[in-house]
Parts: sequence; C-alpha cells; structure tokens
Amino acid sequence: ARKIILDVDTGTDDAVAIMFAALHPELDLIGVTTVNGNVPLARTTDNTLRVLDWIGRSDIPVFPGLARPIARRGFPASRHFGRDSDDDPHGSALPIPEPSSKAQDTGAVEFLVETLRSTTEQLTLVPVGPMSNIATALAVDPSLTEAVDEVVAMGGGHAVANVTASAEFNIWADPEAAALVLSAGFGRLTLVPLDATHQALVTEEDCAALDALGTPAGVAASRFVSRRIAAYRTAVEGGNAAPVHDVVCTAYLVRPDLLTTRHLPVEVDTASPLTIGRTVIDTRPGSSLDPNAHVAFGADARLLTELLLGTFGAVSG
Ligand code: BDR
Ligand code: CA
Repeated sequence: ARKIILDVDTGTDDAVAIMFAALHPELDLIGVTTVNGNVPLARTTDNTLRVLDWIGRSDIPVFPGLARPIARRGFPASRHFGRDSDDDPHGSALPIPEPSSKAQDTGAVEFLVETLRSTTEQLTLVPVGPMSNIATALAVDPSLTEAVDEVVAMGGGHAVANVTASAEFNIWADPEAAALVLSAGFGRLTLVPLDATHQALVTEEDCAALDALGTPAGVAASRFVSRRIAAYRTAVEGGNAAPVHDVVCTAYLVRPDLLTTRHLPVEVDTASPLTIGRTVIDTRPGSSLDPNAHVAFGADARLLTELLLGTFGAVSG
C-alpha cells in the first residue's frame, strides 16, 4: 500500500478525505497532521480525532501543527469569524460524537521532519489545508523533498475562486507557505485547484446512496456532504450538489485517471492587495518558466462517486 501523510484543517471535506485515506486498502495512512484553517487548530484537531474514532481507526496518530500562518499574525482576513454555529458547512464541530482518543504530544512539524528523515521508502504528502506545516518542515530541512515521491495538494484556482474574487482559501490563508511548497523542488507536485473540484460534484442522490451503505463512513459522509449541499444551494447550478474538494486528492492517489492534468508553471501572489493568495498558473504555450506542478483542470464526477461508494461500503468502514 502507498504510504501517505495527510495534512488537514478538518472541515467537512477534509473529513471525507480522511475517511477515504484511512479505509482504502491501497493506502497506508501513517499519520495525520492538523493545521489552522477552516476552523482554529484546536477544532481541526478535535474534528480529525472524531473522524478517526468514528470509523474505528484511532490507531492512526494525529499530530497538531501550526495555529497560525507562517508569516502573518492572522489570516489576511478572518474566516473563523462567525463560523461557530453547528450548521457551519466548513467546519465547526463535526456532527459525530466527541473523540475519546487524544492527539500526540509530538507536533506536526517534528513528526514530518523526523518521519521524512528516517523513512527508508518514499512517502506521499497530501496537504488539503493551508500549507503552514509543510512549509515549516521544509524551512527546518529543505532536503526533505527527497523523501517524497509526490505531493498532492488541494488548493488554488485558475478560472474559479472562492474566498476572494481572486483566491482559493487554502492558498490565501497562508500564501507564503504555499509559495514555499510550490517552489521547493519536489520531484512531483500535483495541484488540485477549484477548477477540478468543482467538476467532481457530489449530489443529493449520492448522499442517499452513501447513507444506505449503513457503514459508519457511509453514514458520516452522507451527513457531511448534505451539509455542504445546503451551503452551496445558491452557488452551484441546480443547487442539489456540492464539491467535496479534499477527497478528490485522496481518491486521485488510487485512481490517477480521476483527474486530467497539465504540467505548468505555478506561482503564488503574496503581495498584491487585490489578488493575494492567487495561484498564477501560466497556461501560455511556450512560456519561458519551468513547469513545477501538474495542475488538474478536469475531474470525473461519476468515478469519484464510485470510489466513495466502494471505499465506504467495505465492511470495516
Ligand atoms: C479548501 O478550503 C477549505 O475550506 C476546504 O477544506 C478545502 O480544503 C477549499 O477552498
Ligand atoms: Ca481542507
């Protein structure tokens, strides 16, 4: 099985990504690191523990990471503000029981540095929140890239944005961290922007099918995605479906044909007031810049649904 580390700001879509990574037989989730993002760090950590407990995978260790972006006192603006109600589709406390397991005493950055330094085989890093933890680990030791076969990151957008008119949340919430990770020289970096995740919508019908699986993962996924659909009512055509961004990354690991990618130069704007946090993706033919990311522009919605049903329907899930 492919060994992976998930870096999350759980989050309903992170929650589905975690369940997929923890339950798919071809993936070996060796640790989950948490970061400030959708909700503050204490909540992303608590939510992550809830999810793993709920599906009977509290054996997977959870390492709390950075509570702040690497170079800013707070977000460029606050997304936490006003996001405390139980109806919050992006986070708050997930609608499953409180965890009985605890996070590790070791922090996320220490775990990343130690694990990547000592591993005898290459690992896959899957950041699906702001990239503060991974950027900090790289600041400690830039050669950590050598221990990574692929980074699969959810973030950015070319024709689609969410948190501002220009930017996607994960990149915007810690633009310096994202800039550092994108330019770190990883052997392979796959970027899954909103352009792709907005094509892999999960529908109300899919939720009913997930719930009907009757497994903890199926029931929880249905609950989490239903919340997202309610929040996306007016944002998505037809109003009966929602993107579940982060699970597109974990599903891609087992089925690369889920995504259509192009190898392109990508930089992050860390300076301009209007477009801070924007991924500037150079699609010009013959650009003189070197490509640094395999950017997903297309995703197969039907295949994603199949993968969710297959993985969450297994008895252990
Ligand atoms: C991304 O930001 C977070 O809100 C989600 O969990 C996802 O990773 C979408 O922009
Ligand atoms: Ca996330």
